[in-house]
Amino acid sequence: MWIRVSCPGVVKFFGEHAVVYGYHAIAVAIDSRVEIYARPLDSEEIVVNSESLGVNVKFRSVDSVDWNVVWSRKLMYIFKAIELAMNYVNSRKGIEIHVKSDLPVSAGLGTSAAVSVATISAYLSCHNYDLNLNEVSKLGYRTELEVQGTASRMDTTVTTYGGAILIKEDSWRRIEIPEIPVIIGYVERKYSTKDMVLKVKKLRDNYPEIIEHVFRSIDAIVLKALECMRNDNSECIIHLMNMNQKLLEVLGICSEDMSQLLDTLRKLGVGCKVTGAGGNGCFIIYTSNVEIEKRVVEFLKEKNIKIIRTRTSNLGLQIEKFLK
Ligand code: PMV
Repeated sequence: MWIRVSCPGVVKFFGEHAVVYGYHAIAVAIDSRVEIYARPLDSEEIVVNSESLGVNVKFRSVDSVDWNVVWSRKLMYIFKAIELAMNYVNSRKGIEIHVKSDLPVSAGLGTSAAVSVATISAYLSCHNYDLNLNEVSKLGYRTELEVQGTASRMDTTVTTYGGAILIKEDSWRRIEIPEIPVIIGYVERKYSTKDMVLKVKKLRDNYPEIIEHVFRSIDAIVLKALECMRNDNSECIIHLMNMNQKLLEVLGICSEDMSQLLDTLRKLGVGCKVTGAGGNGCFIIYTSNVEIEKRVVEFLKEKNIKIIRTRTSNLGLQIEKFLK
């Protein structure tokens, strides 16, 4: 029996990086998803295949996993998630996993959280263990923490539950907002989330009094944005996204090229900002004006920038069982 598990990608509308230091952030699930097909194995084998990464890896058991291979093939979230799920239920039963995703990997769309939460759910569900969303989300967070060293619960919470959330440290709540169209642009990312989080940490260590002020300003933007998003006040959302972007630039997570690109886009009258850790990767563009949206898409196509057109979505983790 195979199961299909899917989790949504996540865009960070407001507050990334500051959220790592206990400030608020707003993140939203999108209707582009990471899919995992999985089946239980009778042996203790772990078999992982990822179409988008073009890799296929097999180990006799969790104890014989070669972590160097796993890291070099960019499969550490999947293997760490399997290991944590096994420890959670105290089992060594094997699993075969196939990952499918059209989303750019490690680019700011929360694919690492989606793949971690989906893998944990696949493992538990394949072997008929109970699925408690809160526990799954927590294990997903621990996966990110162990792989990256630092993480907030933002992406793992959103990818588990779907919808839009306001989060601060361990506490979060769903916020009811109208469905928002989002254009995502993607420029190849040079650095990992870990690199960028570390970069901000160093800046904060060197200039604590200044960087705390930047975080506090981001926090104020998030709280104001909550009101604007609920009221569907697009002018306000645009202003606040652009302010947040400028503060992300102060944090040093945006390349010169990316800043210039976003400056040009802003002149078209949109809200645009990096989503996620930065160091290139994805940026989001928001406008409620169809004409402006067309111009933005044309502009990005001219520049040969990969575009993902999506919407915010209330759908979180989904699991289906079927025979194959
Ligand atoms: O680039 P992503 O999708 O991994 O997002 C990272 C968001 C940060 O706030 C920078 C880190 C975190 O764990 O919240």
